Amino acid sequence: MPVDIAVVPVAGLGTRLLPATKSQPKEMLPVGRKPIVQYVFEELTGAGMRRILFVTGQGKSSIENHFDINEELVQVLRESGKEELLAELAFERAPVQYFYTRQRQALGLGHAVLSARTFVGQQPFVVALGDSIIGLNAQSDVVARMTRAFDDLGAAAIIAVEEVAPEEAHRYGIVHPRNGTGDLFELDGLIEKPPREQAPSNLAIAARYVLSPAIFEALDQTPAGVGGEIQLTDAISRLIQQGRRVYGMRLRSDERRFDIGNFDAYFRAFVEFAIADGKHGPALRTFLQHLVHDSDS
Ligand code: UTP
Repeated sequence: MPVDIAVVPVAGLGTRLLPATKSQPKEMLPVGRKPIVQYVFEELTGAGMRRILFVTGQGKSSIENHFDINEELVQVLRESGKEELLAELAFERAPVQYFYTRQRQALGLGHAVLSARTFVGQQPFVVALGDSIIGLNAQSDVVARMTRAFDDLGAAAIIAVEEVAPEEAHRYGIVHPRNGTGDLFELDGLIEKPPREQAPSNLAIAARYVLSPAIFEALDQTPAGVGGEIQLTDAISRLIQQGRRVYGMRLRSDERRFDIGNFDAYFRAFVEFAIADGKHGPALRTFLQHLVHDSDS
């Protein structure tokens, strides 16, 4: 059976983006025209996901509201002949079932995934972080490639990875390839936020996973790790230690990961998406050129 369940954790506190995230989820911050989580949703539906479970938490109800059908708004736009704006709401009609569960305390990504256990049951599933966009305007089919590889290889997990500068490795989960790296390669282990000298490669986990349900038992046995959080990375390492096969799949060069977890990354992503906007992008690009030129001179 094709994998069609995706779990989208959106329950984190987003402290690195305070005060912007004090009373709104970081996953709802706009990048260009859309909130971040809408890009994630569109990528997942494009990859064939038909059941999407959001793991939410306190203060995250605007995410649920965003995916509801707003009949009143549709009617107002229809009556006023604003067909162009109506088209902006097409995502509301995607052929998807929505589910929501709550992580009652933000105890880490692994803990968030564990709260999907009853829903997922005994099937393989996708995990897509709700604060990370893959590719400009989410033009990526990496999840579809990963689910195909998962079936073909009989894997326990496939993880998207992206090259990062060695001095950045300590910010990410880093994979340890078994024998070299191509587009798809087996892993010997993973380590969350390693000190620079201990990073086994410069390939960072890039916010997308396909997991077998064996991950739940591994998570059950995983104590709190880096930052006192239950780390998904540690549970996947445990699968490898149990003799299961775990692979990394490289993002293509046009599938850069936009991780919106901090202001530097958020500002850059917003500017990049905004200047790629079909309508307003060219004028913004000229504006930015003038702005930079004027402040340099
Ligand atoms: P982060 O690792 O960026 O953590 O989450 P965070 O708590 O949101 O942010 P900071 O560190 O306080 O700034 C990556 C993704 O995993 C989700 C987040 O919502 C985000 O989409 N997450 C994280 C959870 O769902 N639960 C958690 O306990 C932690």
